[in-house]
Amino acid sequence: MIIKENISLLSYNTFGIDAKADYFIEYSSVEELQTALQSEIVKSNRLLHIGGGSNLLFMKDFNGVILHSAINFIKKVSEDADTVMLEAGAVVNWDDFVAYTVENGWGGVENLSLIPGEVGASAVQNIGAYGVEVQDVITEVNAVEIETGETKNFLVEDCQYGYRESIFKKELKGRYIITSVVFKLQKQPDFKLNYQHLEAEVLKNGDINLQNIRKTIIAVRESKLPDPKIFGNAGSFFMNPVISKAHFNELLVQYPQMPHYFVSDTEEKVPAGWLIDQCGWKGKQIGNAGVHDKQALVLVNKGGATGAEIVYLAEQIQASVKSKFGIELRAEVNYI
Ligand code: EPU
Repeated sequence: MIIKENISLLSYNTFGIDAKADYFIEYSSVEELQTALQSEIVKSNRLLHIGGGSNLLFMKDFNGVILHSAINFIKKVSEDADTVMLEAGAVVNWDDFVAYTVENGWGGVENLSLIPGEVGASAVQNIGAYGVEVQDVITEVNAVEIETGETKNFLVEDCQYGYRESIFKKELKGRYIITSVVFKLQKQPDFKLNYQHLEAEVLKNGDINLQNIRKTIIAVRESKLPDPKIFGNAGSFFMNPVISKAHFNELLVQYPQMPHYFVSDTEEKVPAGWLIDQCGWKGKQIGNAGVHDKQALVLVNKGGATGAEIVYLAEQIQASVKSKFGIELRAEVNYI
């Protein structure tokens, strides 16, 4: 177990905010985590567990303990003629996991290539892209209860998954730490290429297979999303809002070109990026915080931005989307 004091969090958040934490504890096994949870430092301080830091915005220094997993393994749990079950430790880099599955010819997560973050956070956030959500392939989530230190196994049906939503963000928020996740992958992949022009893009790279899908998705993401090593960012800053059909129909009269996704007979989802773009924010900057010039859903640190500067920009955007479309945007990023 590694314990550090008064450390900079600069390398632990993809926004590149230079906040500090009083304590930082990194554990490399379930047992070490259980020991850490019983320690005086953890019991007497505020606690924040972080993953790859790709969904966090530090607004000031963190007075308390940051916990981080070093549980790093991928193992085959079982397999049959059609499927392979893999268990991955919480700290495994998400895209390394995707690369491993694609190299082995196992399908299911190729559309989720290049999403930043770690395996543990993927199961909290229910990461999704290009028509796939991680809940489609998760079968089990292993966790430790913070208060008691007891281990608990959640089946996917216990996790209450929804769009960027799970039980770990709702009633169990702050109560469990995910230590590993079990995934079910397909030996004869069922490719999901319905999202926008994905199939045509893949065909430009050759045949439809796992490698080409991964390659295409990486190219699409790289063309739209800024590299956090150059401009700090946390991917989509806001969630795509789900609005009532009545509201949607009213807007459609005024904006017939508005992109949208079917949710149910009573609700429709609209891309936040399009709404923000329509309000004229793409490429705009206030102080050191900016709106990415190729995808308005992404806010970027133009260099030395504070968390407060990013939030100020986010609030201005929320206000203009509210006034133009009557829609409240919700941040996907967590303000700390
Ligand atoms: N659009 C614009 N202007 C913009 C951005 C988007 O007009 O500045 C339009 C696009 O032309 C398109 C529509 O909005 O018609 C949707 O855009 P895009 O395909 O880029 O996807 P998105 O809905 O903005 C979501 C996810 C992304 C994910 C992509 C691909 C959320 C909040 N975001 O973005 O996830 O990669 O779909 O599936 O659901 C993330 O969560 O960090 C993330 C990047």
